[in-house]
Amino acid sequence: MSDLLSRRKFLASAAVGVAATRARDIPFPMRPPRPLPPQSRWAAKPVAVSSANGLRAVQKAFDMLLQGADTLDAVIEGVKIQELDPNDDSVGYGGLPNADGVVQLDASCMHGPTKRAGAVGALEGIKTPSEVAKLVLKYTNHIFLVGEGAKRFALQYGFREEDLLTEHSREVWLHWRANLNPDDDYLDVPEAQHMTVRPTGTINCDAVTPQGDISSVTTTSGLAFKIPGRVGDSPIIGAGQYTDNDIGAAGSTGRGESNIKVCGGFLTVELMRRGLKPTDACLETLKRVIQITEPRLLGPDGKPKFNLNFYAVNKRGEFGAASLYPGSYAAHDGREAKLRDMASLYERPAASR
Ligand code: GLY
Repeated sequence: MSDLLSRRKFLASAAVGVAATRARDIPFPMRPPRPLPPQSRWAAKPVAVSSANGLRAVQKAFDMLLQGADTLDAVIEGVKIQELDPNDDSVGYGGLPNADGVVQLDASCMHGPTKRAGAVGALEGIKTPSEVAKLVLKYTNHIFLVGEGAKRFALQYGFREEDLLTEHSREVWLHWRANLNPDDDYLDVPEAQHMTVRPTGTINCDAVTPQGDISSVTTTSGLAFKIPGRVGDSPIIGAGQYTDNDIGAAGSTGRGESNIKVCGGFLTVELMRRGLKPTDACLETLKRVIQITEPRLLGPDGKPKFNLNFYAVNKRGEFGAASLYPGSYAAHDGREAKLRDMASLYERPAASR
């Protein structure tokens, strides 16, 4: 492949501070890491892309790709860094809770080489829902487990039930509850007066191996203070993420309800199938989102009062991302893991909902 970086640069990039990944380092591996073919026989430029909170995820996933790991194992180990980080309050441990103060997590993944999918919704007490989604994919005849059943399934595989609220996320929830209704019995908390935006953080990661194998994963704590039981787009195959090993993968972060209505992960992959580059496919999907957005979600200027982002990779290892409003995303292109600007439909920053 003419546009590939030199093998030396690739290997140097992969070697920065990383020990080789062994099978035993990957819980429930899709397959053990195996030696890569010579670079002259690589079918694709290996890449990993993610939402902006995924800089460490793309570095980890990319390192694993160059160590011969499976594509799904690579993206799951990447996003787990964020799931386990108590300082990321949009996903996994420390994620902001629902209206009852309970953290309910959603995740889904797809594995291109085996054409499998797995997902969990409203999962409580387990820090790494992406891993549980992988277990659904790998070990069951099903695709989507939710709630109590999803938790019992995870416990059967040795996951520990833990309190997912951190001091920070509990405090944010208490402030939200105190300021919800001026007439209730909770006294308003002045510091939270400006907390008008309900965050929807999430991480999506998509990767292509040198052999051209593709996977995707999306994991989230969902919309902060949501109605208990609400699941967003992240665990919905075809919305939160989608992979077709012949074409590419796409995933999303942002307002899940707006993505679900266009099946955005699937649509973006289908647009790439018709020949669009990853960034253009993401932009087209966003245009579809706008076409079916209800007036109540538009501001006086006619623009959406929410934000939504799509990320995509294709079979050749080309990648891109787009958003309603300007923002950044993370990608490792073989040279380095860094944040890049997304294409956007509109210029001004998103207004609060
Ligand atoms: N996109 C994350 C959510 O809406 O739950």
